[in-house]
Amino acid sequence: MDLRRVEIKDLFTEKAKTMVGSQVRVKGWVRTKRGNKNVAFIALNDGSTINNIQVVADVVNFDEELLKKITTGASLCVDGNLVESMGKGQNVEIQATRIELYGEADVNTFPLQKKGHSMEFLREIAHLRPRTNTFGAVLRIRHNMAFAIHKYFNDKGFFYWHSPLITASDCEGAGEMFQVTTLDQENLPRNEQGKIDYSQDFFGESTFLTVSGQLEGELGATSIGKIYTFGPTFRAENSNTPRHLAEFWMIEPEMAFYDIKDNMDLAEDFIKYLVRYALENCKDDVEFLNKMYDNTLIDRLNFVISHDFIRLGYTEAIDILLASGHKFDVQVKWGMDLQSEHERFLVEQHFKCPVILTDYPKEIKSFYMKQNDDGKTVRAMDVLFPQIGEIIGGSEREESYDKLLTRMKEIGMNLEHYQWYLDTRRFGTVPHSGFGLGFERLLLFVTGMTNIRDVIPFPRYPKNATF
Ligand code: 4AD
Ligand code: MG
Repeated sequence: MDLRRVEIKDLFTEKAKTMVGSQVRVKGWVRTKRGNKNVAFIALNDGSTINNIQVVADVVNFDEELLKKITTGASLCVDGNLVESMGKGQNVEIQATRIELYGEADVNTFPLQKKGHSMEFLREIAHLRPRTNTFGAVLRIRHNMAFAIHKYFNDKGFFYWHSPLITASDCEGAGEMFQVTTLDQENLPRNEQGKIDYSQDFFGESTFLTVSGQLEGELGATSIGKIYTFGPTFRAENSNTPRHLAEFWMIEPEMAFYDIKDNMDLAEDFIKYLVRYALENCKDDVEFLNKMYDNTLIDRLNFVISHDFIRLGYTEAIDILLASGHKFDVQVKWGMDLQSEHERFLVEQHFKCPVILTDYPKEIKSFYMKQNDDGKTVRAMDVLFPQIGEIIGGSEREESYDKLLTRMKEIGMNLEHYQWYLDTRRFGTVPHSGFGLGFERLLLFVTGMTNIRDVIPFPRYPKNATF
């Protein structure tokens, strides 16, 4: 009889009990093998779930050579009887009748021989780490969060908007962009002033990988109303921190007719939806991470969905930090860009709750933010989270053509370059707002991982792009 393969996750459902007594086929990788001279117990995993199915093989029924080759990391196809399990913590197991070895994993060279490797070690073998329990759990949660993001916005009537990855504009104005060029680097064309002649480059001007899809996203909001982007963004900042990647994914909703309050309400509702989704739909993986890595994870997730975020102005936050008497590495004063130590102090020690900070000094924020009447601050909003610091950055946008133009001139932007953007304010301008959620920062929070390089399959950071 030709058996149909079942995925291991399906053997951990209620329905699996009705399959007891029947023949099944499973395929997967060996997590562990133990046993004695009579019987071998093989824990098999196919990536569909954190759970391993136990395969029981009576030694007399199998070739000795074959059994020897069934070691941690080897890949198998197993046919057998599904039986109720005597062992604790599992309902069913497979009494093997036939085992086919797909691929061996040499005990002397397979790097994931034992359990409990450090995250640092696993980063060195990033091509193999998805085979570990931890990364399996993280990557399944990553998928579920991506799906939930699309579901959330689709259910709310937002349109998925594709901003370009190659761009000639610098949204955040920080100049930390990767250049995209087809010019011969050994033989660059020069103009009369001796400068590189980008008119000969592929796009006829110098271009870069985008740091944010927002500017183009604003064209979406001011035409089809409510959009979101969800794509990779690139930053050539030389930040070797546990919270920065050179290539990370960002979700950027942008909404016409939303003011900063509507924007904050959306941001809070959105994050709570995602955390709730993870608790409900990634239960096994979240519970595994809670047990193995951080036993306060589930409490933290529950806390966030059940509390209102604190909302306060930057100026009040500075007052709180100054009055705290706490000694920070970077001294607090009005006008400074808050460091992660300051953000985390507010969230973890002072309020013990996520915080949305608004109305930052205009000098430390981007040119597009709506200017307040005080002439000093802008209608920015950053969402600050425990363990993470800034998870979302956003604002109401400056919709006045004149004010926006003045600000862009003040900071010396090339106006010609941004005329397409300014035109949104020239023709039928509207109040509008948006924000950017760092996908990997969200994943840090939801998985309890502490280094951002551990929540993306192929992390990109300074001096690392091989795999
Ligand atoms: O605060 P940022 O720079 O804001 C923007 O890019 C706006 N254009 C967003 C908008 O209003 N549409 O970045 C937004 C978020 C940050 O809050 C952080 O979560 C994440 O993106 N982020 C990074 N994540 C990983 N690695 C980096 N290097 C990051 N830089 C920002
Ligand atoms: Mg920011």
